[in-house]
Amino acid sequence: MIVLKSHDEIETMRVANGIVVEVMDLMAEQIVPGVRTIDLNAMADEHIRRRGAIPSFVGYHGYQHALCTSINEEVVHGIPGDRTLQEGDIISIDCGVYWDGFHGDHARAFYVGENPPATISRLLKVSEEALGHGIAQMRTDKRLFDISAAVQHHVEAHGYSVVRDYVGHGIGRQLHEEPQVPNFGRAGTGMKLLPGLVLAIEPMVNAGKADVRLLDDGWTVVTQDRSLSVHVEHSVALLENGPRILSKG
Ligand code: MF3
Ligand code: CO
Repeated sequence: MIVLKSHDEIETMRVANGIVVEVMDLMAEQIVPGVRTIDLNAMADEHIRRRGAIPSFVGYHGYQHALCTSINEEVVHGIPGDRTLQEGDIISIDCGVYWDGFHGDHARAFYVGENPPATISRLLKVSEEALGHGIAQMRTDKRLFDISAAVQHHVEAHGYSVVRDYVGHGIGRQLHEEPQVPNFGRAGTGMKLLPGLVLAIEPMVNAGKADVRLLDDGWTVVTQDRSLSVHVEHSVALLENGPRILSKG
């Protein structure tokens, strides 16, 4: 069942996502060589609770943390721990916030250190652009897989691949609602997009092949070929006149 949201509900989701944006801005300051991912998680958790909100991921299918911290070849669902970030790493941080009955969900990718090599800045840039192209398809004259196709096209045009085993999703009173939002698909197909639809659009972009593997910890997803991977995500509402990115300051 697809649950459309009212303007008031979308406003509430904007507040939830606003707290996630604050967390990401904090992460941008705190991500430096030597920091442990468990300490980043503690800062995020503390910030969310100080705002009177709850980290959405804690307790989700037994997950214990506020953040997913996915480093280098880790695609999504990397678990915060004792590992320290090294100059030259990339890290995708994913965070959800539950506030006043609704969830916000947003992910950003960061380079650890000062001057990213061109290969890495290109991967980060193309991933953000792919997300942007997907969001631009959120219009009432479009269909669901127009979003998917736009993401896939941009990623593959640059020689990268999109992960197929994990997808974006509807979001609202539940963290994961219908519909699923794949990062691959055929333009002009899928459900017609309706005002009040709120989607978490989240490309997972591999520098190498699309295949992924689940580590023995039961959570961490890595690229099979160990190539670098980037995950970025926005929660986006479809209004009568087009997309409104809720996870943006
Ligand atoms: N943030 C992920 C998503 O974008 C879900 C995280 S799973 C969790 O859908 F267990 F870590 F919460
Ligand atoms: Co999500």
